[in-house]
Amino acid sequence: MDTVLQARWPEIMEHFDKSIRSSRFYTFATTTPEGEPHMAPYASLILNDDCTGYYSDVFPDKTSRNLKANPNICISAVRMGFGLWFKALLKGSFPCWPCIRLYGTVGPSRKAEPGEIDRWRRHMKPYRWTKGYKLLWADIRTVRDIRFQRFEPIQLGQMPIASNGRP
Ligand SMILES: Cc1cc2nc3c(=O)[nH]c(=O)nc-3n(C[C@H](O)[C@H](O)[C@H](O)COP(=O)(O)O)c2cc1C
Repeated sequence: MDTVLQARWPEIMEHFDKSIRSSRFYTFATTTPEGEPHMAPYASLILNDDCTGYYSDVFPDKTSRNLKANPNICISAVRMGFGLWFKALLKGSFPCWPCIRLYGTVGPSRKAEPGEIDRWRRHMKPYRWTKGYKLLWADIRTVRDIRFQRFEPIQLGQMPIASNGRP
C-alpha cells in the first residue's frame, strides 16, 4: 500500500464525509469484461480507519458483474458545497481538495456485521418513515469490502489548492 495514502488517510476520510453530505453520492468506475469503462452512482460507501471501506451492494447490477471479472475500482468524491465553491472562485484558489480519486480492490459480497449497515443508513434517517426508504434500504443485509491502494487529488485547471490540499 502507498505510504502517502496511509499518511493522508484521516484527511481523505474527512473529504469523503464532507463530499457525501454535499454531493449525496460517489462515482464508482469499473471495467466491463470487454474492457469498456463503466460508471455508476453509489451512496453507501463507508471508510474505515485502516485504508479500507465497504459499501452495500443492494441491487444486482452491471458494476457487480464487472467486479467479478476485474475487482479493481476507482471512486471519485466531489465536494459541492456552495460556500466552498463561491469562496474558491472569489479567491482563485481552493482551501482544500475539491475532488479526489481512490483506487482499490473490491472483495466478494458478504453478510454485514451488526451496525455496519446502520453506519451509512444514518444519512437516510430523516426519511425512514417514507415508502421509498422501506423499498430501498429497510432490508439490506450484504456489503462488499474495498481495500484501497492509492489516491489522487483532482486538480482543476490553474486553481491552486491551498496548504498542499489539506482540508
Ligand atoms: C444517487 C444514487 C445512489 C446510489 N447508491 C447505491 C448504493 O449505495 N448501493 C447500490 O447497490 N446501488 C446504489 N444505487 C443504484 C445503482 O447506482 C444502480 O443499481 C445502478 O443501476 C448501478 O449501475 P449498473 O447496473 O450500471 O452497474 C444508487 C443510485 C443513485 C442514483
